Amino acid sequence: MITFSRRTGWPAEPNRLSEAWAHCRAVRPDAVDLTLSNPTAAGLPYPEEAILRALSDPRALLYEPASRGLPSALEALARDLTRAADAVSPDHLVLTASTSEAYGWLFKLLTERGDEILVPRPSYPLLEFLADLEETRLVSYPLRYDGRWQIDFDALEAACTERTRAVVVIHPNNPTGNFLDLDDARRLGEICARRGLAILSDEVFLEYGLGSANELRAGTLAALDLPTLTVSLGGLSKCAALPQIKVGWMRVGGPSALAREALSRLEVIADTYLSVNTPAQWGLETLLATRSAARDAIRARIESNDAALRSALVPQSPISALHTEGGWSTVLRLPRVRSEEAWTLGLLEEEAIQVHPGYFFDFDQEAFWVVSLLPRPEQFVPAIERALRYVERHA
Ligand SMILES: Cc1ncc(COP(=O)(O)O)c(C=O)c1O
Repeated sequence: MITFSRRTGWPAEPNRLSEAWAHCRAVRPDAVDLTLSNPTAAGLPYPEEAILRALSDPRALLYEPASRGLPSALEALARDLTRAADAVSPDHLVLTASTSEAYGWLFKLLTERGDEILVPRPSYPLLEFLADLEETRLVSYPLRYDGRWQIDFDALEAACTERTRAVVVIHPNNPTGNFLDLDDARRLGEICARRGLAILSDEVFLEYGLGSANELRAGTLAALDLPTLTVSLGGLSKCAALPQIKVGWMRVGGPSALAREALSRLEVIADTYLSVNTPAQWGLETLLATRSAARDAIRARIESNDAALRSALVPQSPISALHTEGGWSTVLRLPRVRSEEAWTLGLLEEEAIQVHPGYFFDFDQEAFWVVSLLPRPEQFVPAIERALRYVERHA
C-alpha cells in the first residue's frame, strides 16, 4: 500500500469561482478576464527575433554545470542590476528557475520543521504551498490602509515568536501596490537584526512604480546595508515579462560574514538541483538588454488603465479605488451589502467579467475586488465601466 506524504494532502474540492468562470467562458464568447496576469497573453510588443536568437546560442550545446549560475550570466545580471550608487557583484547573486523556487531554497536555508516565516496580509497566495512543502509555518502580519497601505510594525513585532526566522516583504506588494520607503526599510532592518531574523524582499514588481518616481521609495533592500541578512528576489517573469523563460535570482546583502555564509549554503542547495537551463543562461544578457520594450509597454498600459478606471468612478459612486503606488493591479472597495463572493459571481453571471475577490489575497475584511491592469485597453476600459455600473445598480 502506497502512503503519500501528509504535507501534500491538500484539499482537492473545486473552487466555485473557477468553475463559474470555466462555464462563463464556454458560453460567452465576449467574456473578459480582469484577473489576467500572464503578460505573454496581453498583446505586448516583444522583441521576438532577438529573444529567439538569444535562446539558440550554440554554446548551449555543452553542459558545464555551475551551481550559482554560469559566470557570464551572473556578470550580465550584475551589470543589469548595477545603478550609479550601487555596484552589484556577481559573487552576491544566485540564479534560480523562478522566484517561487528562490523562496523554496530560502525556506530550506533558514527553517527547521515548524519554524515560522512572517508574510504580509493581504498578499499574493504564492507562499502557502511552498511553505507546506518545506514544513515551514507562515504567520501573517497586517498591512493597514489609511489612504496608503503600510506595514503595521507593532503588529509585525507582536507576531514574532521564538520560532520566527524571517520576514517576507513584497516591495511593491501584490495586489496592494505599496512600496517600502527608506524609513520603513531601516526600521524593519533594526527589528530583524534585534530578533535575529532575515529579510526576504520580493522585488519582482520593483520597476513598476505608478506615477512620478517617489524618491522616498527604498529601492532594492539588499543594497541598503541593513544590519541583518537581506535577500532581494527578482526574475525575468515580471521585469522582462517573460515568465516562460524560467529565470529568477537572489541578491544576498547585509553584514558580510552572514551574507558569505548564506551564499555558501545556497550554493550547495543550488548545486543539488542545477535547475536553471543552459540556453536561458547564455541568452540572459540579451534578454535583459532587450527587456525594456515589453516592460515599458506594461508601464504605459498600467498607467493608462489605472487612469481610465479612476476617471470612470463618479464622486458619489458606492465603489472606490484605493490608492496604489505600483504593481500590475488596482484594489476596489465595494459596498458591504453583499459578500465578495456574491459580488464576484454576480458580475460573472450578469456581465461575463472575471475579477478576483479580496479573500483570494487574504484581505482581513470584505468587500474588495482586485482587478488586473494588464489587459488591452480596448478590453479593459469598456469592461471596467460595465463592472462599475453593475455595482452601482446593485448597491
Ligand atoms: C509578488 C510575487 N512574487 C513572485 C511571483 C512569482 O514569480 P515567478 O514567476 O518568478 O515564480 C509572483 C507571481 O505573480 C508574485 O506576484
